[in-house]
Amino acid sequence: MSRRTIPGLESPDPVLEREIRELLDEVEAALEKAVRADSDMLAETAQYLLAAGGKRFRPMLVLLSGYFGDPSDPRLVPGSVSIELVHQATLYHDDVIDEADARHAVQSANARWSNTVAILTGDYLFAKASEISTDLGTDICALLARTIATLCDGQIREVEAAGRVEQSEDDYLDIIRRKTGALIATSCRLGGMLSDAPAEALDVLEQYGEALGLAFQLSDDIMDLTASHETLGKEPGQDLREGVYTLPVLHALGGPRGAELREVLEDGPPSGERLDRALEIVRAPGHLARARSAVIFEVDRAHALVERLPAGPARTALGQLAEFLATRCGARGPGGSRSERGRASGSPPERGPGGSRSERGRTSGSPPERES
Ligand code: IPE
Ligand code: IPE
Ligand code: MG
Ligand code: MG
Repeated sequence: MSRRTIPGLESPDPVLEREIRELLDEVEAALEKAVRADSDMLAETAQYLLAAGGKRFRPMLVLLSGYFGDPSDPRLVPGSVSIELVHQATLYHDDVIDEADARHAVQSANARWSNTVAILTGDYLFAKASEISTDLGTDICALLARTIATLCDGQIREVEAAGRVEQSEDDYLDIIRRKTGALIATSCRLGGMLSDAPAEALDVLEQYGEALGLAFQLSDDIMDLTASHETLGKEPGQDLREGVYTLPVLHALGGPRGAELREVLEDGPPSGERLDRALEIVRAPGHLARARSAVIFEVDRAHALVERLPAGPARTALGQLAEFLATRCGARGPGGSRSERGRASGSPPERGPGGSRSERGRTSGSPPERES
């Protein structure tokens, strides 16, 4: 299957875009192969969510991060596959935890089959990811294992916090750093590791990935409140219904109608009329603005980090992805203040198209352009 659109990467350097597209096609073919199974049922359930959709955001980050070393390193494709399989596994499990009915506008695996089937399928995908990563070396296996552990820690903290109105915004940020930030940070580090990028680039890539991951989840949380059923592929307001009180909810609890919202949530996660009332309070512009400013904070942090990487089309693309997250949740308009930042920080013009495949000669061993 050819991926016609790459969300967030619609108009970067044409050479880079073509190369990433080709590599993503290889990743797609390898994913299809990886989820084959002896049992007909497992073969069906394991490919189910992959076939239903998905942005392949994490493989794209692995591949782009590979441009800070040798982007033609053949380990980048299995590395991307491993990361995406871990991600897919967490989606099967997440839909069980969240008792979700739908994902990508199809029934979730738990709804279509059962919790047991969804859990076993997730386990199978984790096992496949581990198997593939063993060929990539023990440091990569250890990194993936640590990341999965952090992700489980984040998910269990979220379960523990569910339905509790007294959490702080910092508690919430800590949860999403673990449940979402960790895997996105690891995707970036992994791309650097597998392409033998310089050590200083690995740390910057990981920190960039964490900022991006936080912006990713914060924007996803905003869209859960603001986007349509069609855009989400599921019913909006799902987080509130599950008792997952995201940043706009926590902010609303401290706002002028906080007491009223507390009363609505007193009897547990809302549904029906209580859900409508809660949504009406939480969707007030001020609470969404607070969450959008948290997105901007992380997106700007991501921009500052990418500026420490060597200039080139891959660096531009990483900046563009961060901006895509600000745009998708309405935190910044298309073509917003990014160009202002570029001017303000006096960044040199980016290298033009051509030769992005061989950025390594230029990047490898060269010191970061700027330290801040
Ligand atoms: C969904 O991730 C889970 C979150 C971290 C919010 P994605 O939005 O990347 O899911 P796919 O890969 O496109 O299905
Ligand atoms: C995303 O959780 C994090 C993981 C899957 C680990 P969510 O519950 O916020 O994601 P969606 O909204 O179901 O995709
Ligand atoms: Mg969920
Ligand atoms: Mg969840």
